[in-house]
Amino acid sequence: MADMDAYCSMDQDAEVRRYVGGKPRTREEAERRFLNGFQPVTDRMAMWATILKADNSYIGRCGLFPHFQSNGEKIPGEGALGLYIAREHWRKGYATEAGKAFVDFGFNELNIKKIVTAIEAGNDASVHVIEKLGFTLSYTEYVHRTYYHYVLEKFKHV
Ligand SMILES: CC(C)(COP(=O)(O)OP(=O)(O)OC[C@H]1O[C@@H](n2cnc3c(N)ncnc32)[C@H](O)[C@@H]1OP(=O)(O)O)[C@@H](O)C(=O)NCCC(=O)NCCS
Repeated sequence: MADMDAYCSMDQDAEVRRYVGGKPRTREEAERRFLNGFQPVTDRMAMWATILKADNSYIGRCGLFPHFQSNGEKIPGEGALGLYIAREHWRKGYATEAGKAFVDFGFNELNIKKIVTAIEAGNDASVHVIEKLGFTLSYTEYVHRTYYHYVLEKFKHV
């Protein structure tokens, strides 16, 4: 509950939501999602509150979540990386730091073999971070908007 205000202001920020959903959520929508939208997991594959060590403040949500195939089943051995940082903390290296930590966590602790992520065209900061982490473009897809699908495989990761 302590993170709810910070979570909601991120979700209400049109710039944060520009390439992830396309429009800001209202406070009511964000609260509802915070209170009901996140189910507990037992396999540690979820988005985690991202906390700034210096002052213990909530600055975003990052993590590895299951990669689902089109029939809704989880793809074994694969994870999807998500990075969301509040705008006042952009360009300080936090997404890169969190991304590296979750790649290591996925490959070395969860024993995942492949990590994927989808980025909407135009989200240049996200493309830059993902390519810095070693991901390569797998394919481009158009579903109402254009998405770049990136992949990082364990055997290629150093
Ligand atoms: C994408 C996002 C996670 C990046 O977070 P961040 O903490 O600012 O990222 P970092 O500071 O680690 O790195 C940003 C890098 O992108 C670069 N960058 C920033 N804006 C850029 C732009 N418009 N075009 C190209 N590069 C850009 C920065 O210079 C930096 O690169 P550098 O470290 O080589 O100098 C953040 O902007 C965000 O949360 N956006 C909204 C949610 C979102 O779109 N998430 C991604 C879903 S796929």
